[in-house]
Order: sequence, then C-alpha cells, then structure tokens
Amino acid sequence: MKRVLKVDNLSYYYENGEGIKNISFELETGDFLAIIGKSGAGKSTLINSILGILPKIEGEVWIDDALSAKDISFSPQSQAIDWYLNVFDNVYMEALFEGTINAKEQTRNVMNNIGLEGKEKEDPTNLSGGQLQRVQLARQLVSDSQILILDEPTSSLDVITAEKFLEQLENQTKTGKTCLVSSHDLDMLEKHCNKVLYIEEGEVVFFGLLNSFLDQYNNLNEYSVFYEGGLTNELRQSISELFNVLEWQPLTVEINTDESINLILKILVDNNIIVRSIEQKKRSLKEIIQLKG
Ligand SMILES: Nc1ncnc2c1ncn2[C@@H]1O[C@H](COP(=O)(O)OP(=O)(O)OP(=O)(O)O)[C@@H](O)[C@H]1O
Ligand SMILES: [Mg+2]
Repeated sequence: MKRVLKVDNLSYYYENGEGIKNISFELETGDFLAIIGKSGAGKSTLINSILGILPKIEGEVWIDDALSAKDISFSPQSQAIDWYLNVFDNVYMEALFEGTINAKEQTRNVMNNIGLEGKEKEDPTNLSGGQLQRVQLARQLVSDSQILILDEPTSSLDVITAEKFLEQLENQTKTGKTCLVSSHDLDMLEKHCNKVLYIEEGEVVFFGLLNSFLDQYNNLNEYSVFYEGGLTNELRQSISELFNVLEWQPLTVEINTDESINLILKILVDNNIIVRSIEQKKRSLKEIIQLKG
C-alpha cells in the first residue's frame, strides 16, 4: 500500500461565505473512500477543489509524483457528454485518448457491463438521464486511471445498475486503484467502501476506516432479543418499567450490565416466550447518519 493522495487543510469559500473549511485526509492505493454528508454539506465543493476546478483554494493537495493528470479521472455531478458523438464513440474516444489497451474491445466490455448494449449507435440526445449517466460512467471505467473521482455517480441509476457499478469500482480498487465517491446511497456505499469522509457544513466530522466510524457511532449498550410469538400488554408494561425499550420486535433495549441481560432473559422465559437469540445492536452507516441528522 502506497500513499497516493494527501489533502491538507483545504478551504474554499464562495462569495456568499459558504464552502469548505480546513479539510485534511489522505488515501492509499486500494482505498475506496465514501464522501458523505447532507445536501449542501460541501461534497462537490471538496471534489472540485481537489481537482483544481475551483480557483484560489487554500491549503494543499498532494498527488503521488509517479502519477500524471491522465491518471486521474473525474465524473462530475452534472453530465459531461460529447453530444456530437454517438454513444459508442463517446466511450471509445475516451479509451483512445487515455491510451487504453485493446480500446475497442474494452469499450464493448464496459458498455455491456453497465447496460448500454444496443445503444451503441444512438445519439446521446435520445437517451434518458440514467442512460446518460451510464455513458459517463462507462467513459470513466474504460479510462484505466489510477485515481477515480466520482461525484454522485449513482444518483440517476436504477438500484441494480448502481449496485453493479459500485461493485466494478470496488474491483478496480482491488487492483490498486483508488476511488473517491460522493453519494447519498449510503446502504450501497457501506457495502463497497473501506474509508469514510463525513462532512457537515463544510467541515470534516469524521475521516477514517468505515469500521471505526461504525464502532464510534454505534451505541454499544443496545441489545436486540429475537423471540417467537408476541408479548402481551401486561408483559410489555413490566418490561418497560425496568428497561428503556427502543423497539418491540425484536425486543431492543438499553442494557448497562450483564445482570440486566440475564434479567430480561429471565422475564421472557418466565412468561413462556421462546428466545431465539440475543445480539448487540449494530447500526448501519445510513442509520447513524439519519440519527445524527
Ligand atoms: N457556485 C456557488 N456559489 C455560491 N454558493 C455555492 C455554489 N455552489 C455551492 N454553493 C454552496 O456551498 C455549499 C456546499 O455546496 P456543495 O455543492 O459542495 O454541496 P454538496 O454536498 O455537493 O451537496 P449535494 O449533495 O446537494 O450535491 C452549499 O451551501 C451551497 O449552497
Ligand atoms: Mg454535490
């Protein structure tokens, strides 16, 4: 693993004073970074600052000396399509431009994988929003760049295509490429990323491994008890007197000591409830962000 990108105290302010403030993080080969945060948090501003699209940024962006501009590809939030070329040529030209080996074959592969087969000869103006997004993503996949930066690549894709696309990106990171992806599809991102950059109002709330993020924001004293059948109102009443109940099915409670686990199991068993399992509650990335918002 080798460091490929380092962002140091990056700030950018629009004229109205909005923007990003003192953002720092670094990535290595093989990293898949999820850039997350509410709409307006500063994700696109950060990406555009890293790429130098925005002028007069403060701070520094360091990229591995061995890489050149050609090794970095970018998919903006709004579409970048060559409207005068047909769909196939939009992707093929990118492959040629980037010097991709077996450019034609690679173009066909990528187009098939992303669900653009049959659309090769089509004029881009005849495509739907989601299909246009696929053209743009196909261009990125075919480009063989080392660092792939994507701003909301899945926003207008159907769930199946989005899932397939993120899987392809993850496969690319397994070959040592680095991906930075901003998205609101948190459940999907959680399956594929290894690092998280969480931004709120232009500032970093968290940067690090996905697992550290989940551990840090998971309330570890919540337990779920999976049981069969239902609980009578009477039983519910007595449980709520002893525990802070967050959910009834599965029975999810805040537990502070081992004795409390035993107590709740005893109450259930005494009332002839069959307990199947007990699990420490683990919130997903999406649940954590929703709770924080
Ligand atoms: N061109 C601009 N001029 C002035 N303010 C802007 C401009 N572009 C964005 N902003 C403001 O900067 C902040 C960050 O915007 P940004 O586009 O980076 O958010 P985002 O996290 O990408 O949101 P989304 O999820 O909606 O894409 C917002 O408050 C936005 O209103
Ligand atoms: Mg954005």
